[in-house]
Order: sequence, then structure tokens, then C-alpha cells
Amino acid sequence: MNCRPDKQISEALKYMTSLELRQKYLDFFKAKNHAVISGASLIPENDPTVLFTTAGMHPLVPFLLGEKHPAGRRLTNAQKCIRTGDIEEVGDKTHHTFFEMMGNWSLGDYFKKEAIAYSWEFLTSPEWLNLDKNRLAVSVFAGDDDVPFDEEAYGLWSEIFKQNDLPLERIAKLPKKNNWWGPAGTTGPCGPDTEIFYWTGEAAALPSGFNDDHEAWVEIWNNVFMEYNKNAAGKYELLSQHNVDTGFGLERVVAVINNLEDNYRTDLFAGLIRKIEELSGHRYDENSEMTRVMRIIADHLKAATFIIGDDKGVAPSNMDQGYVVRRLIRRAIRHGRQLGIKQNSWTTEIARTVIADYQPVYPELSRRQEFILTKLNQEEDKFSHTLEKGLSEFNKLSANGISGAEAFKLYQSYGFPLEITEELAKEKKIAVDRDGFEAELQKHQELSRTAAAGKFKGGLADAGEGTVKLHTAAHLLLAALRKTLGEHVLQKGSNITPERLRLDFSHPDKLTPAQIKEVEDDVNGAIAQNLRVSCEELFLEEAKKRGAMGVFDSKYGERVKVYTIGLADDSGQINFAQAFSQEICGGPHVQAIGDLGHFKIQKEEASSAGVRRIKAILE
Ligand code: ALA
Repeated sequence: MNCRPDKQISEALKYMTSLELRQKYLDFFKAKNHAVISGASLIPENDPTVLFTTAGMHPLVPFLLGEKHPAGRRLTNAQKCIRTGDIEEVGDKTHHTFFEMMGNWSLGDYFKKEAIAYSWEFLTSPEWLNLDKNRLAVSVFAGDDDVPFDEEAYGLWSEIFKQNDLPLERIAKLPKKNNWWGPAGTTGPCGPDTEIFYWTGEAAALPSGFNDDHEAWVEIWNNVFMEYNKNAAGKYELLSQHNVDTGFGLERVVAVINNLEDNYRTDLFAGLIRKIEELSGHRYDENSEMTRVMRIIADHLKAATFIIGDDKGVAPSNMDQGYVVRRLIRRAIRHGRQLGIKQNSWTTEIARTVIADYQPVYPELSRRQEFILTKLNQEEDKFSHTLEKGLSEFNKLSANGISGAEAFKLYQSYGFPLEITEELAKEKKIAVDRDGFEAELQKHQELSRTAAAGKFKGGLADAGEGTVKLHTAAHLLLAALRKTLGEHVLQKGSNITPERLRLDFSHPDKLTPAQIKEVEDDVNGAIAQNLRVSCEELFLEEAKKRGAMGVFDSKYGERVKVYTIGLADDSGQINFAQAFSQEICGGPHVQAIGDLGHFKIQKEEASSAGVRRIKAILE
């Protein structure tokens, strides 16, 4: 054994970049026979329950429920995520609205033993992250009336802790509130989890036990044992397949392994903070308020850049994802004003830094640079004009608390999202009538119900029967549109609820009543013929060659699922050459379309320039 302390010291001092960490993680799991798959879009396909991709498992829900994944049963990737449920916490050391989750999954393959062993090995082995074991603690699910104590996870950790001479008080047993993951919506796969924490405080202050409330214990990894499905009756039923869903926040782990005081000092934020310092003439560590405000600006404008710059990107608006991005930008602008930033188009300066920093990993940002900068500029222009007037209006109103009608006026006339009004009110130590605001909003029905209800938290796909049928109908619709209107028609987005489907597609003009009828007839004709649906796994290149439609954001050499809808012969074989529709898609779909019902287009309208939107139902 060759001991080289000098090398160890220099390596210990070496900074590990986010790029290196991403790669290390994927390499580790590749060595454990996991297939490295692409991350998905930030805008979920066919999931009515949530606006954004909130975790690495989210695009994998069909596979966690038992669909076969073309890349196998062991998967790993990096997934960009948006979580606005934590927006109030942004400004502290570790919370973000945009973050990257490194994840690995077992789809009915390995379970608790291997999952725990892998995470421990990756974190502590000198070959990988080499974290100080003495700074680690874990928690496991304590059990309750629904689901028993996770004795197995506790036992596995006890073994590891004993082998490493670590105190067993650092294995905490905690309730569902802490150690249960998903579904954030109403139904879907979920299970007990075991979380790993790192002590970021002074070594001398390291407690022998683990205390969840101490902010120096930072959660760095979550292993979810997805063995349950929460059904519509609120009961936890065991899944036929035992899955593992794990994830860690890249930003946090880069900070921890490099001994940095907070995530904003990592290479994932440092350039942004420097830019904000430059624009404002202030320093990040000038005082705690300065630090907090700079963190919020950096976080929100990064998130906005990623949402607008996604391949299915969304511009600021008053609806759904568009309203989230609007709120993020406006909140950043209001904080920029607090710092005294005066330059026009300053938000685009920040966006340029985000694009430059991230484009090696997320090339869509540079592809969509023009769009990102234009949309940010427009939003900044619009809001900067009303912000001053709104602030002086606010100052007139604010003596005895703010009524719902007043908050609504700030929203409607000056474009203040409720949280800006609430923040200003908090600074003045006065209250805002939030319920009153919501009531006004309902009355004016300006926002979609989903946005008003605060649909910003996580959630899981609803793969109920109605949704699956409408999903298949959406494939029929896209194929019919291409026949009637031409091959320029490409899918630009889709959203499916149990009641209706919505499809956005490229086409310059409004559809005529005759075209709408032709499309409906074509879809209903296919239903009448009871066409079959088949699913194959192909290499992406083969799928493209066949002319399958789809978003081609997978990597070269990756296998994809292709769903074909067509006439089957007596042996059940579909004639692919004459298929009605072929799309790259994760599923799920019905097997035969004969009982979809009657397809009807309810609405056809513009969605954005050159993009039309259809809402349709099955009667
Ligand atoms: N899905 C798990 C989480 O988000 C890993 O924490």
C-alpha cells in the first residue's frame, strides 16, 4: 500500500466542479449496471396534476407503476426540476426553485439493501466522494397506523454504523411528515424513505445524535422505497413491483463536498452572484439581508431562464406555468430594485450568465437564447413601468392592513403577484387578507383555477382510465391533423386531464369548420375500425427513420418506446407501413381503440404565434 499524504492533502483541497460531480455520479451507477438515460423536459407531458417536473421520478411514473422501460430495470440520470412549494424558503443556504436532481432507480430490481449500500459507498468511499463518515446521520420511517416501522432499513443502517464505529443515535426514526415520499398529489406510487444528512457546522459542535431541527444537518440524499400505491380511497396498497427511487440535489452536494458555506458559493451560482454584485454595486456578504436578496434574484432568474428555455418552454403569462414564470421574474425585479439596480434589461444579463454556465449540459438554453432574452426583456419592460406606481399605491394603502380588494387592485392594475404584496406588507408589519384576495380573484376569474389554487407543489401523474383513453385519442388527433393540414404540423405541447385533452401544434392559421369536421371524422373513423395499439422498443435512430413523431430529446444510442396505431391482421400483427399513427412516447395507452367513444373537438384557438391549440373530449 502506497501512502502519499501530500497527494491526499492536495486532493482534499481540490475543488470538485458540478460537471465533475454529475459525471462521477453517473459513472458510479453505470458501474453498478444502471443505464444512463436522458433527463426529461421541465414541462410534464400528459400529467394534469402538476405544472412542472418536480423530481427525477416524475417522468418515470408509468414505469414505477409497472410499464416496462426500454432501457431496463436499473436507471440513472440528472433531471432538471422546478419546485415552487419551497419558494418561501429561497433566500436561505440550501433551497431553490430550480435545482438538478441526480437520481437512480430500481424498477422492481434491487431493493433496500443495495440502495442503502450504493448511497453509502458513493458518499464515503475514497474512490468516490470520500465524505467524512463521522459527519453523516440518517433517518428511517418510524411507522404509523397505515404502514409499519421500516425495520429492514433500520437494521441495514445499524450494521453499517456499527462497522464504522459510528453512534447509533445518528439513526433517527421519524414519522411520515419526515420519512415518507409521494404522492404529492392525491394518488400514485409512494413509500417510506431513508434520508442521509451531512453536518455542515463546526466539527467541535458535532452532536452525538441527529436532530432534524438543527439547520447544520443538511439533507443530501433521499432513498425512497416505493412499494405502495395510494389509491383514491386514501389507502396504501402494496405495489406488485418494489421500486427504489433515489435522489440528491446537485447544488447541495457540490457545496458539501467542497466545504462551502452555502450553495450560492458553488460554481452553479458563483457567476450569477458576481453578476448581481456588479450590477448593484453591493457585495454578497455585506449583510444578511443583502445575501438573502441576492440569493432570491439568482435563484428566480435562473429558474425563469430554464422554464422559458426548455424545449417545451413557456413564456410569462397569466396562466399555469406562464404565471409561475411571471411571478419569479417580477419577484426578482422587485428585489433588484431594492438593491438599486437601474440598468435596462438587467434581467437578460443574468440570463446570459445562466446560459453560458449551463449550456454544456443543457444545450437547449443556447438554442433558445433569443426567445429567452426577448421574453425576459418584455416582462422586465412591462413590470418596471407599473412597479413604481404600484409601490406608491401600496404606500397609500398600507396603514391598517390590506384588504382583499386592495391586494387585488395591486394585482390587476399594477401586476403585483400576491406574494409581492405580502412581502411588502411583512416588511411594514401589516397583514394582507389573503382569503379576500382569493375571493376577488375567483370573482374575476382571470386566472385558471389551477394557478389560483396554488398548484405549485409536487404531484404525480394520474393514469386513470379516462386519462389513458384521452392520451391515445391525442395520438389519433395529431395524426389526423397532419393528414388534413400537412406535415408541417408538429406537436408543441399536450396536457391531459381525466375530462379532456389539450394539444398544441404548429400551424399558422385558424382551422376552418370543414377542416375541424374532417379531423373529427378521421379520428372517429379510426375508432370505428377498432384499430390496435402496439408498443415496440427501438433505437432512437430507427424510430426516426420510420417516421415516428416525437420529441427527439434523447441521447444518441438510447432506446425509446414507439406506439403505433393501425389495422391489425388476423394474427394481430399491425401493418406498420400503413399505420394511422406512430409516436415516440412513454405510454400508457389503451390496447384497442374501439371503445374510446365519440371524439369531439370542443375548441380551436391560437396558443402563441404559429401555434394552435385544440381541446377535445371523448363522449
Ligand atoms: N423522489 C425523491 C425526492 O424527490 C427521491 O426526494
